[in-house]
Amino acid sequence: MGIRRRELIAGAVALAGFLWAGPAAFGSSISLGRFDQIKTKAAKNFTSGSTRILVYRRTARKFSGFIASCPSDKTNLTASGVRAGRITCPTDKSVFNASTGARISGPATTGLEKVPIKIVNGVLVATIGAVAAPITGSLIESSKVPVGGGVKVDSTAGVLMIVQPTRGNFAAYSAICTHAGCEVSRATAQAIICTCHDSQFSTEDGKRISGPASGELKNFAVVERNGMLFLR
Ligand code: FES
Repeated sequence: MGIRRRELIAGAVALAGFLWAGPAAFGSSISLGRFDQIKTKAAKNFTSGSTRILVYRRTARKFSGFIASCPSDKTNLTASGVRAGRITCPTDKSVFNASTGARISGPATTGLEKVPIKIVNGVLVATIGAVAAPITGSLIESSKVPVGGGVKVDSTAGVLMIVQPTRGNFAAYSAICTHAGCEVSRATAQAIICTCHDSQFSTEDGKRISGPASGELKNFAVVERNGMLFLR
């Protein structure tokens, strides 16, 4: 479905707010219309010029966007190919995580190309041609990370699991399971747990403890300053 003209005014207002807030990455910003046009756990296609975007609503206020092209054979990804948190290429049946774009199975050798999506004044705004921001910036207040547990946050490095195995000892790991691309679910003092197929990773170094995953979770250096955690 194309982007409707009557939404351009709302988009202009949204973009003003977006620029005021400061974009996380550079590129062309495009208004996609009201965020509530997509149901939770559902997706919708948008077209802007020659660019096709697939937007997936992960939760009430969180969205993931991708260039709607299968990386292996360049066929168009469609909203009807999104089910149970997975996006399937219509022809070669490559499967991707609908939240992260990570490849799960099939002939594709890479994940989906991401399109940053924000909600600005109730309107979805996509940034096309964005250059990834440096992996820096604040993550979360340190008081919000439970001692002996963890919390997931969106960051310029993707979704991270921030853990605090013991008081004042913080670490950050990619929240994307190295088995089949699910987001990990939770953390204890010892382990980060992916409940998709029960892989567990150490909160000390991200290494696999058990389960079908073979690789470790990518580790990101994190530092606490004035009650906030930052990537560095
Ligand atoms: S995707 Fe995490 S265990 Fe399979």
